[in-house]
This record gives sequence, structure tokens and C-alpha cells, in this order.
Amino acid sequence: MAISRVSISFFVVALFLATADGEEGEEAAVVEGSAVLTLDASNFSEVVAKHPFIVVEFYAPWCVLCKKLDPEYEKAAAVLSEHDPPIILAKFDADDEKNRGLADQFGIDGFPTVKILRNQGKSAQEYKGPRKAEAIVQYLKKQAGPASAEIKTVEDAGNYIDYKTVTIVGVFPEYTGEEFENFRAVAEKLRSDYVFAHTLDAKLLPRGDSAVKGPAVRLFKPFDELFMDFEDFSTDALEKFIEVASVPTITIFNKDPSNHPFLMKFFNSPNSKALLFLRFNSYKFDVYKSKLHEVAELYKGKNISFLIGDSENSESAFEYFEVKDDQAPLIILLQEDDNKKYIKTNVEPDQIAAWLKDYQDGKLTPFRKSEPIPVVNDEPVKVVVADSLRDVVFNSGKNVFLEFYAPWCEHCKKLAPILEEVAISFKNETDIVIAKMDATANDVPKEFDIPGYPTLYFVSASGKRLPYDGERTAEEIIDFVQKNRETTSDTTTSSESIKDEL
Ligand SMILES: *[C@@H]1O[C@H](CO)[C@@H](O)[C@H](O)[C@H]1NC(C)=O
Ligand SMILES: *[C@@H]1O[C@H](CO)[C@@H](O)[C@H](O)[C@H]1NC(C)=O
Ligand SMILES: *[C@@H]1O[C@H](CO)[C@@H](O)[C@H](O)[C@H]1NC(C)=O
Repeated sequence: MAISRVSISFFVVALFLATADGEEGEEAAVVEGSAVLTLDASNFSEVVAKHPFIVVEFYAPWCVLCKKLDPEYEKAAAVLSEHDPPIILAKFDADDEKNRGLADQFGIDGFPTVKILRNQGKSAQEYKGPRKAEAIVQYLKKQAGPASAEIKTVEDAGNYIDYKTVTIVGVFPEYTGEEFENFRAVAEKLRSDYVFAHTLDAKLLPRGDSAVKGPAVRLFKPFDELFMDFEDFSTDALEKFIEVASVPTITIFNKDPSNHPFLMKFFNSPNSKALLFLRFNSYKFDVYKSKLHEVAELYKGKNISFLIGDSENSESAFEYFEVKDDQAPLIILLQEDDNKKYIKTNVEPDQIAAWLKDYQDGKLTPFRKSEPIPVVNDEPVKVVVADSLRDVVFNSGKNVFLEFYAPWCEHCKKLAPILEEVAISFKNETDIVIAKMDATANDVPKEFDIPGYPTLYFVSASGKRLPYDGERTAEEIIDFVQKNRETTSDTTTSSESIKDEL
């Protein structure tokens, strides 16, 4: 569940997942005698060592997605504590100073991250299951059992193969031999991502050729061709097959939480992403979907992944991309390597393929989010927006000290009077500009790396960019600007490349 890809995706993923989990649940009731164990650095190892199977949520007190998960996690813990043997759910505040060392050991880089610890904590796998109580219970019961369960009856098959998840079933003439061992090894390795089972009798399985004797692998999935057979049992080939076969041609984004694992995969992929939004209850939905499907088939195995999202469920995504409901159906392309975005509003089904072709051919202009260029800009610290960045910063032939800030950021508020002091001290120097940009309301070009707020840059008259990491005092900043300013107003050389970009 960790959200670690930090490009555009970080923000987008967060807002998608917040809605993908469905309606806001009840507030976390403060349960007397909570079924969830609280662990900290003082007792983590001791408690984990006591349990062959234990689930730990690494959370931070300020994390919104954690607060959404908590009531569901709590309910699941209560049910699972009655399981035989009990399945233990615990939580660990990974943001607490004293706990951070342990969190680092587990490679926690996003919240919430839920880990399944087996074998007294010696093996840790990431929880990749659903986030609703009942589904968490089902998922964890399977996780607590063997990596691959035997299917002996049609009923067993019904329990393991459902219409929401990917299930991988090995069909074997007998449970021995290299094929079976390799299947088991892959099941052990990938068990937190998929459900694995094995059987001696393909007739028990709901789909596919029932005469198959094996060894063969039949992968069941709730989308596309619904099942696929595979017969190469080298572990690498098997893993690769599973990885590719379990990605839908089109990922669905709506209120159904069972799509959540597929959404996670979609956003964690290194591909660029094409997202089509429209109302799922629209009479034209099927036409759009089949057109998108045709295009997605063309791009299969290439570097674009496809999603179709219900615009009724996408308010926060629409807000982020500054589009309105009445502009749907609309298609958005997020280019992964440089965060550029392309948007086509009011798209017709027949335009989808052509638009993507234009994108591939480099014929489209990227969408840029910008506040309006201010009409009056006469405070000492000048306001820069995405649409004026080129003129104020790169083409002005001036030395610009630029702050990227967020309106809610406390450190930025503290810096404001200091920047003003700096700006006033350079008032008579026409070759120096002190400026600021709201980086939450404007797209920041990739040349500026914004790891946090405020981020400070100096761009010299000739276009050289220097990050400013010094003390945030007027004295230090003035000193830095004095040292790095250039008197030239010749802007034709080093700023050329970025001018083209903007
Ligand atoms: C671990 O220690 C913390 C206090 O340091 C305590 O609140 C918590 O209940 C303990 N957990 C267990 C399972 O003993
Ligand atoms: C995607 O692949 C094409 C070639 O198939 C390449 O030209 C393009 O740069 C790639 N885009 C990304 C974002 O990797
Ligand atoms: C700017 O110039 C004016 C007039 O020449 C002068 O009075 C003022 O002190 C100067 N300000 C600074 C900060 O140097």
C-alpha cells in the first residue's frame, strides 16, 4: 500500500485511492479494549516473535488514508481474533521519533503500509489486499493458510476462484516433481498479490478445458479473456506470465473497492497513463469503452496504460486537473518521465485513437495549470504564475530569486517578511527580482525540483539555475544574490533549452 512513486502520481494516487475506497465510513469509534494491538519500539520484536503470523499497520497520526482504514481494520481485527488460531492485527506509529529506526528497517516509505509478518517476523510481505473489513477478513484468512491451497471439490474451487480477484491454479497429475515445486515457490513469493491453488482435477474448475491433465497453470481473472493457460514452469517465466496476464487492458476506476488492487498496479506502473472519464451510467458508455479497448489493445506491451473512470466519482481528480463535469467525456494523458499532461475535453468515441496518435506524433500542446497572470503586481515580492514564468524569470535578462511555496505552509509564512526585506533592499537594483510562485496552483516545470515547501531557487540573468539551501535570513539571502548575480542581459545562450520547454 505504500505510495512511493513521487512524480505526478503521488498526488494523483492519493486522491484516487481516497475515492476508490468508497464512501466515507463511520468515524473510527474508540473501541474499549481494541482488538488491534498497539506496538512500539519497546515491544515490537518481542510481540512479533510470539506469533507465526501477524499483520502490522505502519501508520502516521496525520495520515488521512490511515484514518479511513482504521475503522475497517479494527472491525476485521475483532472478527479475526475469533479465528482458530487467532489472527493478530497490530499497529505501529512509524512517525514517532523512537519508532522510526524500526520503520526504516521495514522500508516504510508511505502511509499506511501494512505488512504481513511470518515466521517470527523473518519474512515480511506487503499487504496488497482490499481495505474494507469483510474483504480484509477474507483476504487474511487466505494469507494465514498455505501459500497454495488444494482444490478437491467444486465448492473449494468456488471459494478460491471468485469474480473479483486474480487466482492462479496449478493443475498437476500428481503433487511431486520440479513443476510442482516451482509452482509452490512462486506461490510463496507472490502470495500477497494473488490467490494460488492447486488441483489434480481440471474438471473442478469453472472455466477452460476440463480435460487438461497438467502440469499446467490456469490463471483466472475478472476481466478480458477471463482465464489463460500457461505451461512453462521455470519460475522466471511463470512470474512474468502472472505479472503480465494480471494487468487488465483497461483498469476500471469507480466506487467498487475490489478494483483497488488493480488501481494500485496501474499507478505504480512506470508507464505513461491515459485516463478516460465519463459517466458510467451514460447510454454511450459501451461505445466509449469499446473504442478505448481497441486503442489499448494497440498499445499492449508498450509504455501507455489505460484507465476508464466514472466521472461521478472523480470530483477531486477533476479539481486537480481543472476540468468541469460538463467537459466529460474527457481524456487525460499523464506522461510519466516529465509529468507533462495532455487533456482533451468533450471527446467523442471516434476521436480517441486519433488523439492518441497525435500525442505519439508530438502534435499536442501540453496542458499547463496556471493561476491568471496578476494585473497588478506592485508588492516588493513579485507574484509569478506558470503562464508568466518564462517572461519574468527566463526571458527578462534579470537575476531572479524565486520561492516556490504552498499557501498552507508554516515555514513559508515565516519566510514571507524576510523575503520582503530582501526585496526592499534590492529595490533600486533593476537587474534583481525577488519573486514567489504558489506551487500548488501552478505547474512547476521539471527543471525545478520541489522536495518540500518552501523551495528556493536563484536564476541568474543568463538563465543558470541554482537551488538555495542556505539559512533563511535576509542577510544570507542578500549575500547569496550578490555573489551570484550576473550583470549581463544577454539571454540567448544557456536559457535557450528551457525557453523551448516552456
Ligand atoms: C507496547 O508498549 C506500549 C507502551 O510503550 C503499550 O502502549 C502497548 O500496549 C504495548 N503493546 C503490547 C502488545 O504489549
Ligand atoms: C514510449 O515509447 C515510445 C516508443 O515506443 C517512445 O518514443 C517514447 O519516448 C516512450 N515514452 C515514454 C514516456 O517512455
Ligand atoms: C534607492 O534610491 C533612493 C533614491 O536614490 C534612495 O533614497 C534610497 O535610499 C535607495 N534605497 C536603497 C535600498 O538603496
